[in-house]
Amino acid sequence: MQARNSLLILLVSFIAQFLIAGTHTSYAQNPHDMDTMGEDLFIENRCVRCHTIGRGRFVGPDLSGVGDRYTREELVKWIENPQAVYQATGKMPVNEGYPPMPPTDIHPMAAQAIADYLRAVKVAPDSRKGGTITGKVLDKTNDRAVPGVKITLTSYMGDKETGRADADTSKDGAFAFASLPWDRSYMVTVEYEGAEYSTDKMVFNPGEDVKTLDLPVYEPTDSGVNISISEGHMIIQAVENGLSIADLSSFENKGDRMYVGSVDVAGGRKETLRFSVPPDAANLNFIHGITPESIVRTETGFSDTESVMPGPKRVVFAYTMPLDPGGGTIEKTIEYPTQNFLLLVSKTNEQVSVEGLAGGDVVKIENEDFMKWSGESLAPGHRISIKFVNPAAWKGYIKWAGITILILAVGGGILYSSLAKGGRSGPAPERMESNREDLMRRRTALIKEIAALDDRFEAGGIDEAGYKKLRENKKTELIEVTRRLRF
Ligand code: HEC
Repeated sequence: MQARNSLLILLVSFIAQFLIAGTHTSYAQNPHDMDTMGEDLFIENRCVRCHTIGRGRFVGPDLSGVGDRYTREELVKWIENPQAVYQATGKMPVNEGYPPMPPTDIHPMAAQAIADYLRAVKVAPDSRKGGTITGKVLDKTNDRAVPGVKITLTSYMGDKETGRADADTSKDGAFAFASLPWDRSYMVTVEYEGAEYSTDKMVFNPGEDVKTLDLPVYEPTDSGVNISISEGHMIIQAVENGLSIADLSSFENKGDRMYVGSVDVAGGRKETLRFSVPPDAANLNFIHGITPESIVRTETGFSDTESVMPGPKRVVFAYTMPLDPGGGTIEKTIEYPTQNFLLLVSKTNEQVSVEGLAGGDVVKIENEDFMKWSGESLAPGHRISIKFVNPAAWKGYIKWAGITILILAVGGGILYSSLAKGGRSGPAPERMESNREDLMRRRTALIKEIAALDDRFEAGGIDEAGYKKLRENKKTELIEVTRRLRF
């Protein structure tokens, strides 16, 4: 039981760390860093998508003065568990003319911080009629502003589209949409050289009047020579009657152009990234960086068809593989020049042999034993083969339906980031990634991880020393992530 739980935590934290690779350093702690926690949590937990503070009705009621209407405990209950409010009052909705507030997924710590923020927040008299979204379109390939490009602003009420407005950028690449009602969310889309770039849906945060966006666009290229992998990871665990495999890649487009692909894989859709997956892989799950809509299955795995922007792109997916009682082999072909490759196999059985990588040593990662193999500067076509002998001994060792849990654990922020837009032809939309979003995602993930850790400890699934240490580490990181988000 214990092994299973800590392994899970480890895997989740490993993947979460992978997703924010590069943001880990140690910093001095400052207690004031928690100051804006409540407001930040109010924003990140998407309360702002349904509530304004002092700007009128949205999907839900204006929350200004809500501290006068409810006690702290009542507020916490609303935030943590609206259903409990409905049960206690016997009314649903409580406020006439509104839909019920949907269930939330918020840790008690976070709910308290939000309640304290709502009680304390002072609303500035809001004279302006609405907000402004302004910005510039910059061609990063040629380092110049892009005049005369069409910008579309789409507004939403919840998921429902409520309107569209177009504007052309001025001669210095600028655009502005003014007098935007507070009770909407907005998405900005740019079409450039056949590629479509979109922001996430945005809302005006409490006190925010103007949003300023830099929208980078790139010239296209059909040459993939600049695509490589800086870090590739494969983590393999035994599950009942098979294996569960997580595959993580840090791609890099080292060029200054958008790679739109060259090989046609399905009716005009071009392959941009290629992934090798064993033929009998099942339960393929796209966890980060790729969406099912843009995937085409191939004989050797699958191809992505989303254009690849310059810079890093992290992709995580997972699958399961059945194994015969006698054993089996996983083959993986390296598809791109790969700087570092790391294979971790949970150590439950000695009988694993690997070709194409060096190692096999046992390493301890957060108290868990793994067998580790690695390779450097691997060329495309390089084959890795992982052979499992007599895995029957594993049967019942770990019954891990882990992929779902894993998605839940890192999913909160990631679902938020994946932009699924159906019904459009042409190159797939691109997302504008930012370090800030990574951090926000990380914070959401951390809060969930801490919550999961608490549950695990309460259920006796982890010993106290390990629990305290892990929790302390996560808390320190949470404070740090919060601090960094302030800039
Ligand atoms: C999907 C939309 C939605 C989201 C997201 C949402 N709420 Fe609500 N909320 C509502 C609606 C609708 C109501 C009114 C429900 C009712 O009266 O029964 C409401 C009611 C409330 C109330 C009671 C207000 C009053 O005057 O009675 C509070 C407090 C509240 N929400 C806080 C939050 C916080 C904090 C968050 C973020 C963690 C949040 N809500 C997220 C839709 C939402």
